[in-house]
Amino acid sequence: MSKASHNYLGIDLGTSEVKVLIMSGQGSVLAVAHSALTWEQLAPGWAEQDPSSWWNAVIDACKQLQAQAPEQYAAVNAIGLSGQMHGATLLDEQHNILRPCILWNDTRSAKQCEELTAACPQLHSIAGNLAMPGFTAPKIAWLQANEPGIFKRIATVLLPKDYVRFLLTGSMVSEMSDAAGTLWLDVEKRDWSDSLLFATGLTRSHMPSLVEGSAISAHLNAHAAKLLGLKSGIPVAGGAGDNAASAIGIGAIRTGDSFVSLGTSGVLFSVTDRHRPNVQEAVHAFCHALPGMWHQMTVMLSAASALRWITQTTGFASETALLAQVAELSASDRESAPLFLPYLSGERTPHNDALASGVFLGLRHKHGAAHLAYSVIDGVSLGMRDGLDALRSAGTQIDQIQLVGGGSRSALWAQLLANALDVKVEIGQDSGVGAALGAARLAQLCESDASVDLIEAICRKPKINSAFQPQADAVRLSEKRQKLFRSTYQSMKPIFQAAAE
Ligand code: XUL
Repeated sequence: MSKASHNYLGIDLGTSEVKVLIMSGQGSVLAVAHSALTWEQLAPGWAEQDPSSWWNAVIDACKQLQAQAPEQYAAVNAIGLSGQMHGATLLDEQHNILRPCILWNDTRSAKQCEELTAACPQLHSIAGNLAMPGFTAPKIAWLQANEPGIFKRIATVLLPKDYVRFLLTGSMVSEMSDAAGTLWLDVEKRDWSDSLLFATGLTRSHMPSLVEGSAISAHLNAHAAKLLGLKSGIPVAGGAGDNAASAIGIGAIRTGDSFVSLGTSGVLFSVTDRHRPNVQEAVHAFCHALPGMWHQMTVMLSAASALRWITQTTGFASETALLAQVAELSASDRESAPLFLPYLSGERTPHNDALASGVFLGLRHKHGAAHLAYSVIDGVSLGMRDGLDALRSAGTQIDQIQLVGGGSRSALWAQLLANALDVKVEIGQDSGVGAALGAARLAQLCESDASVDLIEAICRKPKINSAFQPQADAVRLSEKRQKLFRSTYQSMKPIFQAAAE
């Protein structure tokens, strides 16, 4: 049984910030804190982050949480971890970090993806996923070819949140939902695949051990406990990749439960009762954070990050200030706004195209910052529609979705999304902290036997704060723009290639 007087700490290692929260035994969010992160782009398509900045941000955010709610913080009895997926965190024999982490949105390994696919014919059937540069295995193949000195010294490869776990507990452990995004996991069997590891010159000895997300992975060690002001020896749950954690946070635990996350990346996620790949359309088919469950996901590499980009580029103080101007646009302004291809970091679903880039089509003298910002959120929404259609062609039925992540703060964007997807969009309580909340729920589950009843009770659906129905006229406009959006990408594809040569 879970203990009502216990509190739980959820740590979500994002790309642009670490988010931490305390959840009570009854499931309420008691306090939240954030600490910002930056990432480096040393060459076009590259994205790296210094793992020591993660740890500093975790300590900073936890200290803020402790200052905000000292008694609740002292009652923390288990920790759950969530994090940005796929990053290759490389450790040598002495557990030193070998180089900055190559992140999920880094597309430098496109060539290695082709080579891996050719060299390993069973890749699709074992991994259930296309080789895409965001995934971990192609990054190691890139290192093998381009940084052989570093490659030879790799003793362990950890995913970002699993490196944080190592610093918390001294144990090297991963869990199924995040491990599925490495391209080394047999996703159906929920175990490392020796042949996929072999394809990148690695063995099981380079991998952490595996647990389910709702199981205990290790315990907080005395050093980290002192640093964070927590009790030594409390359990750390397996946790989940950020998207599976968000699913747990909004109670997406039954087949067909679906959500869209508008964070640095844009994700459409749907729970499945078995492993259901759709490799052709770059659908991600991964394990869920609960035993015996899987999910499908489509991933856009730029979502709320595209809105941040246009905000900074047009010199607005915040996304909110810019969106207030967008809200003033008339229907005809929207109709004649430029079309935007949101591929600022290349794209995964449905194109798997590292060379695709951002494009505005139809710019005129009359267009100002508000038109461009409208185009950007419209373009991300149209990209999401591509994702929805890819999931539908994998046999998944989606009639309504919840919206989570930073983008859920904008009612305007939620409505635009409802029109682009032509499905009802709902925003629940705590939609901005979904992944950290999911991590805290997994912490609560790891304290218990995680029986079906308990899973249902802990992973309940949130109270819905607002709902957005598709609007017939706007749906028609969106369908028209969608056609142009798709044909623009198809026409630009060879040009993206030529531009990169
Ligand atoms: C999922 C993905 C992103 C990251 C960053 O495949 O790459 O959603 O997890 O949040």
